[in-house]
Amino acid sequence: MIAFALYNLKGGVGKTTSCVNLAYLSAREGYRTLVWDIDPQCAASFYLKRAGGLNGKADEMFENTDDFQDLIEPTDHENLSIIRGDIRNRNMDLILADLNKSKSRFKKLLKTIKTQFDYVFIDCPPVLGLMAENVFRSSNFVLLPLIPTTLSERSYHQVVSFFQSKSYDTRKIVPFFTQVDGRKKLHKEVIGYFKEHRLKHLRSSIPQSSVIERMGINQSPVHIYSPDSQPSMAYRNLWQELKWMRKLKRIR
Ligand SMILES: Nc1ncnc2c1ncn2[C@@H]1O[C@H](COP(=O)(O)OP(=O)(O)OP(=O)(O)O)[C@@H](O)[C@H]1O
Ligand SMILES: [Mg+2]
Repeated sequence: MIAFALYNLKGGVGKTTSCVNLAYLSAREGYRTLVWDIDPQCAASFYLKRAGGLNGKADEMFENTDDFQDLIEPTDHENLSIIRGDIRNRNMDLILADLNKSKSRFKKLLKTIKTQFDYVFIDCPPVLGLMAENVFRSSNFVLLPLIPTTLSERSYHQVVSFFQSKSYDTRKIVPFFTQVDGRKKLHKEVIGYFKEHRLKHLRSSIPQSSVIERMGINQSPVHIYSPDSQPSMAYRNLWQELKWMRKLKRIR
């Protein structure tokens, strides 16, 4: 099992959009895939028509590790399962703080399902507390969507510095650009900065497109309602690149 976290300290950059579209592509290729929505906004759950919370089970997630399985349910898409988001996840840092080995709890949970899934995609909220530390420790890769602006560049450096301060493996961090508008000078400059400074990032990027914004209306991955669109193609390229790089162990 490989766990990808969609993470950025910055909000609204495309974590949820990328999580749902990449997970759908993985499932469509026959990989047993799980979306774990840990964001109290529950947007990934909404896109996959599984909003509504965990029926009081969110607080118990860490009590009995064996019960973690019970949170998993199918979606409307073949091979794609979900652990729904829940508003109570807003308290997760406080719950974790009361537990021993508080930074390794996700690792313990994911271990219980490791033979059940090929890929897990964790949709994270834009926070940097104990929940995030659990994500960093338990994921194989931390996919970092970046809108090519000055603030995103800053958030990239902040995440890298945080990893360094905790001696986490920075090679796990895999940035890629989202909501790219090739006509904007700033977007070109920021992408140029990454290239010039040889900062690792995926070659595939996701364009700014109103097709993506319709995910909320359709409650569906973009590949279903607009399979020939540019963003659908861009996410397919991104997914291929992720698999390819993994195979070559370029991002491990
Ligand atoms: N490539 C894109 N083109 C146009 N709009 C996009 C694109 N990607 C995401 N969006 C829109 O930007 C908004 C934020 O996207 P998304 O919810 O994926 O970000 P997020 O990082 O998960 O946000 P949060 O930090 O709140 O969880 C949404 O309205 C989404 O439809
Ligand atoms: Mg989100």
